[in-house]
Amino acid sequence: MCGIIGYIGKRQAAKILVEGLRRLEYRGYDSAGLAVLNNAGLFVHKSQGKLERLVNRFQSNRCLGNVGIGHTRWATHGIPNEVNAHPHYDSKRKIAVVHNGIIENFRGIRTHLESTGCRFRSETDSEVLPHLIDSYYKGNLLQAVQSTLRQVEGNYAIAVISPNEPTRMVAARKGSPLVIGLGADEFFAASDVTAMLGHTDEVVYVEDDEIVDVAMDGVRISTLSGEPIQRAATTVSWDISQVQKEGYPHFMIKEIMEQPISLRQSINERIQAGRVVFPELEPLSENLGNSDKINQVVFLGCGTAYHAGFVGKYTIEKFARIPAAVDMSSEFRYSSPVVTPGTLVVAISQSGETTDTLAAVRYAKEQGATTIAITNVVGSSITREVDVTINMYAGPEIAVAASKTYTSQLAVLSLFALYVAQLRQPRDVDAIEALLHDIEDLPAQVEKVLTQAATIEHIAKRYSTYNHFLYLGRHINYPSALEGALKLKEISYIHAEGYPAGEMKHGAIALIDEEMPVVCIVSESEVHEKMLSNIQEVHARKGRIIAIATKGDLEIETLIQDTIYLPQIHEFASPILIAVAFQLFAYYVAAHRGLDVDQPRNLAKSVTVE
Ligand code: F6R
Repeated sequence: MCGIIGYIGKRQAAKILVEGLRRLEYRGYDSAGLAVLNNAGLFVHKSQGKLERLVNRFQSNRCLGNVGIGHTRWATHGIPNEVNAHPHYDSKRKIAVVHNGIIENFRGIRTHLESTGCRFRSETDSEVLPHLIDSYYKGNLLQAVQSTLRQVEGNYAIAVISPNEPTRMVAARKGSPLVIGLGADEFFAASDVTAMLGHTDEVVYVEDDEIVDVAMDGVRISTLSGEPIQRAATTVSWDISQVQKEGYPHFMIKEIMEQPISLRQSINERIQAGRVVFPELEPLSENLGNSDKINQVVFLGCGTAYHAGFVGKYTIEKFARIPAAVDMSSEFRYSSPVVTPGTLVVAISQSGETTDTLAAVRYAKEQGATTIAITNVVGSSITREVDVTINMYAGPEIAVAASKTYTSQLAVLSLFALYVAQLRQPRDVDAIEALLHDIEDLPAQVEKVLTQAATIEHIAKRYSTYNHFLYLGRHINYPSALEGALKLKEISYIHAEGYPAGEMKHGAIALIDEEMPVVCIVSESEVHEKMLSNIQEVHARKGRIIAIATKGDLEIETLIQDTIYLPQIHEFASPILIAVAFQLFAYYVAAHRGLDVDQPRNLAKSVTVE
């Protein structure tokens, strides 16, 4: 995980690095550090804990210089302390490196370097990089980095500077994201584009096994063996306001509130004249429409993305009548899944960088499957692995807990299911039309849910002292229960379990007492009556119930006091409204507990380790 940034230009590097790291902190926040080149050589400043701590201890007068690198860490090798924080440097302080990834053969390299007299300070795998670069350095930083990278195994995005060559920065990638920003007389290297928004919107995405020589006069990309690569710049459509809180206390609540906009972006262009259009899927459309070519769909993802895939499975089975399965990417490839050339794998990943999902896609491809990615990040690693990418267009998401990207995933998956249904000459055209109509209406309906934020906050405040929650749902809203519980546990640290309501009496019912609030999804659906029975079962055992119901549900009104009412909507679109209500609930519980909502402990947004 971890975020890296580098700057070379005419302005003071430190300020730009800190600002960039702030935007990259979602990638890890165990420690932070930066290194700047100036007349005195290499100035390095690091701190354990969040970036703010580094900033508070900053000696800006010593940190002057126009070239620098920075890092925010999610610890893998070595505890999160100052010594293990990046940048790492060699014994002579001539080479400084920031690294995102894991150097798998670091032990062997370290033992060898130590035998030649190298003195290591940290426990990290990354520290071998500056020492190794130094051992190859014969007056040309680019060549030394090339030689080093030919020797290391594992994955990396790195940025390297040296006081020996004070107007140069070398960056490279293999398996971890790296973007180069092209400004006017200045250049950036970073784990993602958010770090450079406001400075430039012209970027170049670096591919695996490429190395970038960044100098004051321009950027040169080449292979590790030195062959030059020409790559056109891409213009980024995200803007700086999207990565600022704009008056909200946390990014999470800002991103929850943005959902009418993000959903509009995900949906609008894709519904035309009452039909779903996915231009990016055109090359696959013949096979998608033919059950002899594609005979099963497997949805893959981790965490929230897995829950989205779960909803996708129900939807495509219902409307396109294709056998579908869903699996967690981390389990998939170890479970000997039956994947054939007739399998379509739909991998869902907001970041497009989740290692388990990337590995699962690679496995599926090896078995001959067709692969599609649904992602929010243009140019992310997953887009290089799959046959076709579907962009979510949700805009940047900074809070670690997913909110607007989940609802965009759900919207895109529903549209995808209906697109495939259209191709397969469905019998029930009316059913497809009805769902499509309500999908189009989703941004407006989500707006109505958001107007209830104060009511949801009121309920959340009263329940914020409980330590265990059970979330119950059935059918298409069983995954909603899983997602509701995940949201609560990750930002409020409350134990919460999502459970299929029909399974409750086979075990979980033993947990129910006055100390265990039960959140019941009882919105209008095929399983409404069954959910009412489950509510009665909880009620009879003195369980406290919070219900999610459809406006006008009189039965619930007389039964449950703490109810969040949602607008009426098609059952298969309801997970989006329910998700928004659950996000608000989890947000307010965590906020009332005084927790760091945007950066919950131990988590990172982009999980690039297995
Ligand atoms: C939960 C959350 C995580 C991610 C998971 C997959 O709020 O954000 O569970 O959904 O780490 O991440 P992506 O979608 O980037 O592959």
